[in-house]
Amino acid sequence: MDGTTYLSDYRPYPFTLDRVALTFRLSPRATRVTAALSLSPREAGTPLHLDGEQIKLISLALDGTPLTPADYLLTETGLTIHPAALPEGAFTLQTEVEIAPEENTALEGLYMSKGMYCTQCEAEGFRKITFYPDRPDVMARFHVRIEGDAPVLLSNGNPAGQGPGWAEWDDPWPKPAYLFALVAGDLVATHGTFTTMSGNKVDLNIWVRPGDENRTEFALGALQRSMKWDEETYGREYDLSLFNLVAVDDFNMGAMENKGLNIFNSKLVLASPETATDLDYERIEAVIGHEYFHNWTGDRITCRDWFQLCLKEGLTVFRDQSFTTDVRLGPVKRIDDVIALRGRQFREDAGPLAHPPRPDHYREINNFYTSTVYEKGAEVVGMLKTLVGAGGYRKALDLYFARHDGQACTIEDWIKVFEDSSGRDMSQFKRWYTDAGTPHLKVTENFNNGTYTLEFTQETKPTPGQPEKPPRLIPIAVGLLSPNGDEVVPTTILEMTEATQSFTFTGLATKPVPSILRNFSAPVVLERETSAQEQAFLLAHDTDLFNRWEAGRNLARATLIAMSGGAEPDSAYLDAIGTLTAGTTEPAFRALALRLPGEDEIAQALFAAGATPDPEAIHRARRTLMRAMAQRHEAALAATYDACAVPGPYTPDAGPAGLRSLRLACLGLLSTLDGGARAKRLFTEATNMTESLGALGVLVAAGDAARELAAFRERWQGNALVMDKWFLTQLSLCPPGQAAELAETLAADPLFDWKNPNRFRSVMGGLSANHAGFHRADGAGYRFYADWLIRLDPVNPQTAARLSTAFETWRRYDPARQALIRAELRRIADTPALSRDLSEMTARLLG
Ligand code: PHE
Ligand code: ZN
Repeated sequence: MDGTTYLSDYRPYPFTLDRVALTFRLSPRATRVTAALSLSPREAGTPLHLDGEQIKLISLALDGTPLTPADYLLTETGLTIHPAALPEGAFTLQTEVEIAPEENTALEGLYMSKGMYCTQCEAEGFRKITFYPDRPDVMARFHVRIEGDAPVLLSNGNPAGQGPGWAEWDDPWPKPAYLFALVAGDLVATHGTFTTMSGNKVDLNIWVRPGDENRTEFALGALQRSMKWDEETYGREYDLSLFNLVAVDDFNMGAMENKGLNIFNSKLVLASPETATDLDYERIEAVIGHEYFHNWTGDRITCRDWFQLCLKEGLTVFRDQSFTTDVRLGPVKRIDDVIALRGRQFREDAGPLAHPPRPDHYREINNFYTSTVYEKGAEVVGMLKTLVGAGGYRKALDLYFARHDGQACTIEDWIKVFEDSSGRDMSQFKRWYTDAGTPHLKVTENFNNGTYTLEFTQETKPTPGQPEKPPRLIPIAVGLLSPNGDEVVPTTILEMTEATQSFTFTGLATKPVPSILRNFSAPVVLERETSAQEQAFLLAHDTDLFNRWEAGRNLARATLIAMSGGAEPDSAYLDAIGTLTAGTTEPAFRALALRLPGEDEIAQALFAAGATPDPEAIHRARRTLMRAMAQRHEAALAATYDACAVPGPYTPDAGPAGLRSLRLACLGLLSTLDGGARAKRLFTEATNMTESLGALGVLVAAGDAARELAAFRERWQGNALVMDKWFLTQLSLCPPGQAAELAETLAADPLFDWKNPNRFRSVMGGLSANHAGFHRADGAGYRFYADWLIRLDPVNPQTAARLSTAFETWRRYDPARQALIRAELRRIADTPALSRDLSEMTARLLG
């Protein structure tokens, strides 16, 4: 009644929709869309409801006979045809509507980006294109005709003819409307091919605007690697003769898996050594993989309703993470993923927006494309794999594809596949899908007469709407080391099912050092009282790379927490990192281990421990510790910095990228001592964006980058993606006292094209990433941020709502800051005509 949708209200659609024929006559202000829907009722006497929003109905006919106004009801949200006007059996409904893509600034439905037409239909954008049962469980075969002047006219599936001013497309695979796509414009393609494992040749095209075609080569290779990997790892083959991928500059999200026609934010396609960083290359490959993998986990098998979103997203993120691990990064990928998970998902779980991977109600589904659905959804899949083993996982997935191909499924279907293929009862495990919140795991140890016991207690704090948290099944990977560093018990999976539970190891000569939650085997917070010596020992000796990093991270976090309360840098920590500054471990690992936890992570940890974080003190502590690290290890850091220079031309491969990453980590530390001399030199000499931007960031953080920022802008002002980095870097890294003023200055810059989501996010995301700057005590950061959310909301509600999550941590801070943030949230909430997106978010944020 209040506009909330509930999972428990799900009912199947009372009609089947077999075929859809669409014709688009494109025009920026008056595109005509005609649709013919072949429908048949599943039950007699039900009204036919079609969703439709912001579209003008021109005509409506049933089997060729126009309907009269008495036959139907037209509202703001759709069209309902009375049962009396419907025949008993199958029929075709014909509609014609008019839409104005040029006026569509929300970037949902059919819109225009730099003169090009494109669509974004997930989740509920198709209803802004034509009247339709816009729900994922209605799967139909689409035939599309496009008429327009643009030289390139694309839709899903296979080409079915073309001529001057028109093209037709036929998609043989039934699909829900959210996977529909259309692109029309002046585009150029980079071509490639792929021969599938059963010998079908597939044409691949990466479509971009003229001028961008020299930055597509990497994307094409990434697509080919993805196709190969999915065949080798999951036995999944591509199923059309053509795969098109298009880059657009105005896009709300990262990318979209439309069948046979993936549409990408151009930042996740375009790359050259001069314009893209190593991290950009890595993300491009991961997201191209992600969207490609959706062809099976999303498109062939889709979701029954939007509550099941993590069925496709959690699984597909898990797949793309495995892909990156296999083709690129190896075990350090897990560390990257856990840093991201803690930074976003744990943060979400600890605040007013906490929700389960499968929520049971929402007002605006666009607000549920969250880290919980995506990243925690992936962790849950990873735990299933841990529980049934690699072979059991492949067996389960084979069954999933065999049983559910062509269907719209639920989490229950997914769990049943694991139960049926493994013979295990997964009902307790299912809580990971239905319960919100991050379990905290406490552990104590006991050694007696060769027997070693670990006792675990799990506890999850209440989350909005879920006061009770029954125990979950937690797979805890444990290994034991002897005091001389040998591994005496290799990795073992303990399955914890009770609130408190003990596990015993026998036959040990001496008290071992435990390595718990190896490879981060479950998304939980491990709380363990332990000594700095033991952490230092694990940092030096653990055979599990993740837990080596974790030990260093724990030391760093504890040191920073103490320092933000006034303590001196901990010499045990400074000693322990000696193995990283020199040492022989993989450079990418050393780079990760030398980077201190971010300020938000420290604030999160303080809050979890019942303390109130002081943003300025945290910032100072972090800078002070960096300087202490540099002083203690200056010679080794300088030698490593020099040794990590990569000779020869740039390649984005993991080896050289790891060296650059270590080099930049050293640079950041050394810059606290050398007055920025090395960074200035590197900025001048760099021939790739990784080092150029890395040096710039170091100088910005030191408060000495005016010349470099001007030079960078001068050189790159014509390249939107690079200029996004210019905005983001200076705002996110500048001394916090300057952030709010800098944000104002940047917002007044003629290059601040605020209706472009990437540019808007660079500024807003830059400010909120500057933890102490955003949380400045006088509230200037909050005010700037709220002003711009209010301004963006009527133009692009989805992006405004998404960015409002910067405020989700407000309960962590002191009463004065809390009051300031609450006042800004109320000001947003009270704005007249606020979108459903942003009003749902402010209501939830305020709690
Ligand atoms: N389904 C897309 C993905 O994860 C994300 C997306 C959602 C894009 C909604 C646009 C709109 O791959
Ligand atoms: Zn996805």
